[in-house]
Amino acid sequence: MSIMWTMEERAPYRVAATSPSTLGELVRNARVSASMTQAELAERAGISERGISDIERGVIESPNVPTLRSLVAALCLPDHTARAILDARGPRARRHRPSVPQPLRVPLTPLIDREHERAELARLVRSSDTRLISLIGPGGIGKSRLALALATALDRAFNHQVAFVALEDAADASQALVKLLQTLNVTVSRDQPLQPQIIDALRGRAMLLVLDNVEHLPLNGCIVDLLTACPNVRLLITSRHPLRIRGEHQFLVTPLALPKACWFPEAEAIEQAPATALFLQTARRLPIDLPLTPLNCADITTICRLAEGVPLRIEHAASLLTTRSLAEIAREMRDPLTCLRDNGPADLPERHKSLEASVRWSYDLLPADEQWLLRLLATIDGDFSDEVVYRRAAMATGGHVSPHGIAERLGSLVEKHLVNRRREQEQTRYSLADHIRAFARAQSDLCQHASAVWARG
Ligand SMILES: Nc1ncnc2c1ncn2[C@@H]1O[C@H](COP(=O)(O)OP(=O)(O)OP(=O)(O)O)[C@@H](O)[C@H]1O
Ligand SMILES: [Mg+2]
Repeated sequence: MSIMWTMEERAPYRVAATSPSTLGELVRNARVSASMTQAELAERAGISERGISDIERGVIESPNVPTLRSLVAALCLPDHTARAILDARGPRARRHRPSVPQPLRVPLTPLIDREHERAELARLVRSSDTRLISLIGPGGIGKSRLALALATALDRAFNHQVAFVALEDAADASQALVKLLQTLNVTVSRDQPLQPQIIDALRGRAMLLVLDNVEHLPLNGCIVDLLTACPNVRLLITSRHPLRIRGEHQFLVTPLALPKACWFPEAEAIEQAPATALFLQTARRLPIDLPLTPLNCADITTICRLAEGVPLRIEHAASLLTTRSLAEIAREMRDPLTCLRDNGPADLPERHKSLEASVRWSYDLLPADEQWLLRLLATIDGDFSDEVVYRRAAMATGGHVSPHGIAERLGSLVEKHLVNRRREQEQTRYSLADHIRAFARAQSDLCQHASAVWARG
């Protein structure tokens, strides 16, 4: 380990004060008591001899804590002397005390379920093997909500060094980095490169950093640099697709569970199953009467099943209750075009205002060839194999595609949760959710620019 120098510390030579409690005095006394030379201590602590000398002379009043810990360990000090040394860092140490991140947001509605996920994620965050965890899954599945719940639950364990950076509105990497610095409560120097400022602010700190909604931002390089330079930082990101960084632990966020399948589920089952419980929670905030009759319970279950257990879709469906009956909502949800356009609660971010807006967020992030392929897939009814896709793509492009090219892009669409993949008797089958098919069909003409977008083969 090498000592960390700041410009201020390198500057003028200063003689240590005579008070026996200065850091320099304490270190020198402890070293002399241990019969060590500066060179021996330097070697044992993995610090330069010059560093030891500067600390003892008071040139460095505030070495960083890891450096001091190495010194204390090398001197094999009793606890009270070690504590005294760690507490004796000079006034600059207090001035350089890490900033406290901005307080975590408090959601407007209670969290339903997710105990299992929270426990598993807390275990992963604490494990020394996992530095980067990505919560991934389709839009509205509850990635951000789960990340915030986890951050809140771990705030004390991390000594309030937990920062949650909401990045959905960041237009580019610089805006994201500025937002990160602001969340850390660090003054941003606009005329300096941003990434070193972040690394300076985080180096040596034990922190949990949550970067929420990064799918549209080119942050991979910065994330790798940050994790490499700041070994005590744990990074949790949320995204609709994995970052594909080495060491990334991908955690798939799944839909809320539905009640067990039966014709007329009991009211108790509706209250308890997470998906229907979320529907009820949202509905009960509306000025409507919703008795849990057998018929209503059946309709609520149907609606949540049509919403595929996706929290955002369930909240949207429930918010329609001011103008529609349960049966009408279920009927509308069977028509993918209508359900794409239904608007949810007014305070939702633009991306969550409708199901269409949520799908568009993912679609707009696709490269042109993947957009084209998704539109092609939407012309196929039912499920399909990759061979069928290849044949159709070859026909539509006049032979501009290769089977490998198709397989690669199909895989990418699966990874981005726009296409479903399953194994069936040793065969891989693909399918589109009805609302994704309806969305893709409504996009511009399939043949438009076909050969241009397939230039890559
Ligand atoms: N477990 C839950 N309990 C209660 N509400 C939830 C839960 N999970 C998600 N929600 C609600 O569902 C909506 C969508 O959740 P969230 O924003 O976390 O989705 P997301 O997966 O991050 O979506 P996106 O990919 O668009 O960012 C939010 O209004 C959120 O409050
Ligand atoms: Mg999110």
